[in-house]
Amino acid sequence: MRIAASLLSCDLLNIESEIKLLKKAGIAAVHIDIMDGHFVPNIAFGIDIIKQIAKISELPISVHLMIDNPEQFIDIVSYYNVDYLIIHTENSRNVENLMNRIKNKGIGCGIAINPQTQINSIRRYLEKCDLALVMGVHPGFGGQTLISSTLKKIQQIKSIKHDIIVGIDGGINDKTISLVNKEKPDILIVGSYLFDSEKENKLESMKEKIKVLCQKE
Ligand code: DX5
Ligand code: ZN
Repeated sequence: MRIAASLLSCDLLNIESEIKLLKKAGIAAVHIDIMDGHFVPNIAFGIDIIKQIAKISELPISVHLMIDNPEQFIDIVSYYNVDYLIIHTENSRNVENLMNRIKNKGIGCGIAINPQTQINSIRRYLEKCDLALVMGVHPGFGGQTLISSTLKKIQQIKSIKHDIIVGIDGGINDKTISLVNKEKPDILIVGSYLFDSEKENKLESMKEKIKVLCQKE
C-alpha cells in the first residue's frame, strides 16, 4: 500500500519545500487536485502549476481533474509527464474517448468515483482504466469527514477487475485508517492529516503520521 500526498492542504506558499519534505518522509507520490468552481464548489490549482511542480518534483504525480470540461485539458496536462490523469465520469461525456486519449499519451488513466456514484454505473469503464479512485468524501475540499459507506467500493471494484489499482481519496487520518485498511486499498490519498503538523519538526510529524497510516488493519 502506498501513500500519495494531496497538495490541496499543503503550505501553498512553500510548495517546493513541502514536496521535498514529503519525499524525505517517505511519501510515494504527489496528488494535484485541479478544481474549476463548477464541477465542485471550489477552485484549486491551475494547469501552469502542474508544469512547475513536474519540474521540481522527484515524486510521481497524479492529477485529479475535478472540472467540467476535462477534454479541453488532457493534451496539455499529459505534456507534463504526469503518471496518472484521473477524470470523473459524473460529468464527462464520452468517457471512453477521454480514456483513450489519456492512454494514447502513454500515461496512466484513472477514474474517480464520487460517494453517490454506484459501481454499476462505471463498471464498463473499469476494463480500460489503470486506476480507480474511490472518493471517501464529496470532492471539493480537504479536511472533510470520511463517508465510511464508500469503502466497500474498494473490494467491489477488485471483484470486477482484480488487477486494477484502487485508491481511496479523502477523509483519511489516524481515526479512520484502521477502517480504511480493512478494505486493502493499494493507494491512500491523504491531505490535511499529513500537513496538520502540531510539531515544530514537520518532517518528524510527517514520518510519524506515515507510520500510523501504514499500520495493518
Ligand atoms: C478532495 C480531493 C482530495 C482531498 C484529500 O476533493 O480530491 O484529494 O484533497 O484531502 P483530505 O485528506 O484532507 O481529506
Ligand atoms: Zn483528489
